[in-house]
Amino acid sequence: MRKSVESSVELHPVLAERWSPRAYDADAVIPESDVTAFLEAARWAPSANNAQPWRFIIARRGDAHFQILEKTLMGFNQQWAPNASIFVVVSALTTSKDGKPHTTAMYDAGLSAGLLTVEAHHRGYVVHQIGGFDRDAVKKEFNLDEEIAPIVILAIGKQASSDSLANEELKTRELAPRTRLPLSDLVLVG
Ligand SMILES: Cc1cc2nc3c(=O)[nH]c(=O)nc-3n(C[C@H](O)[C@H](O)[C@H](O)COP(=O)(O)O)c2cc1C
Repeated sequence: MRKSVESSVELHPVLAERWSPRAYDADAVIPESDVTAFLEAARWAPSANNAQPWRFIIARRGDAHFQILEKTLMGFNQQWAPNASIFVVVSALTTSKDGKPHTTAMYDAGLSAGLLTVEAHHRGYVVHQIGGFDRDAVKKEFNLDEEIAPIVILAIGKQASSDSLANEELKTRELAPRTRLPLSDLVLVG
């Protein structure tokens, strides 16, 4: 199913066609070369002072790390996300080498996740960002250092038909039109 954007001007097809489905093919396996490409795209994101304050955890459906992450999902995310082929936890290094707070770390990590998302969609996969998970549990289970802050889990895989969603509420969301604020609300000046 496609949900192309309504834009006043033509956008790059990957950007125009990207959206966040919840119906995933539970049998799809992503070749490691594609997983590497996702990470390379993230690695080459810009960052303040080229500090690259992003760190990733990769889990493949069925492996022990995936099972740990499944348990950290909250609410309705538990119903759909486990069908993804891989989870990527995107974290930010919130403290600089000099011990001071790294003020742009979240922004930088978000940029890297954005580029990863574009590369994945370009390669025929879908990516759904998940903020609804237990960050403290992830920190504990993976024994993360204090300065590493998990931000999102990316559910990446092959899109399936909306009919594969058993839950009616999920199906309704899947079929709902995508909406955005108008540009006039977003541009404060200019
Ligand atoms: C930081 C962040 C957290 C999100 N958390 C969730 C989530 O926990 N569960 C979910 O189903 N979608 C989640 N989403 C997906 C958004 O709901 C989705 O991107 C938004 O509705 C726009 O839809 P689109 O990506 O299809 O354009 C999250 C997105 C972002 C960027």
